[in-house]
Amino acid sequence: VIGGGVGLAIAFPVAKHLVETGHEVHAIMGARTKDLLLLEDQFRELLDDDHIHITTDDGSYGEKGVVTAPLERLLQDKAVTQVFCVGPVPMMKFSAMTAEKYNTPITASLNPIMVDVIGMCGACRVTVDGKTRFACVDGPEFDGHKVDFDELRRRLGAYRDQEKVSIDQYRSTHGN
Ligand code: FES
Repeated sequence: VIGGGVGLAIAFPVAKHLVETGHEVHAIMGARTKDLLLLEDQFRELLDDDHIHITTDDGSYGEKGVVTAPLERLLQDKAVTQVFCVGPVPMMKFSAMTAEKYNTPITASLNPIMVDVIGMCGACRVTVDGKTRFACVDGPEFDGHKVDFDELRRRLGAYRDQEKVSIDQYRSTHGN
C-alpha cells in the first residue's frame, strides 16, 4: 500500500482492512518533508518496522527520494503480488510504471476534481483503458496500468489560476 502526502489518509484504512483480512502488508509512506508525513503512529501500530518504508523528498526523515525506490526493492524481492497507490498523480504514474516492469497489478485511487459526485456533471472524467469513466461513480479505484495519468494531471491543473486567486484572498483575509 503506497500513500503519498494526504493520500496517506486514504492508504491507512486500506492497509488496516488488508491486515484485518489476513494479508501481509507493506506500507510505503511518502511525503515532501518530515512534518508533512501523516499517520505514522497509526501505521506503526498496525505494522512492524520491516513492513514500513518511509521516503521524504528532502531526506528529512526516512529514505531520501520517492516511493518508487522501496517499491522497486519489494518487487525485486517478489515480496508483493498486488499494489495499491493513492497520492499525487506523478507518484501514482511512476508507481504504475514501476509495477508494470514486474508484471504486478496495481490499483490507483484517483483524485480528480469532483462537483456533483453523482455521475452527472462530468467534472471527474478520467480516461481508463481508452474509455471515459467518472471517478465518482465508476471509481475512484481503477487499474493503474490503464489510467491516462497525463490527462488527469492536466485536468487537475485546469483551475490553477483561480485556485491561486482564492488562496491569495484567503491569506490576505486570515493573515498568513
Ligand atoms: Fe460529477 Fe463525478 S463529480 S460526474
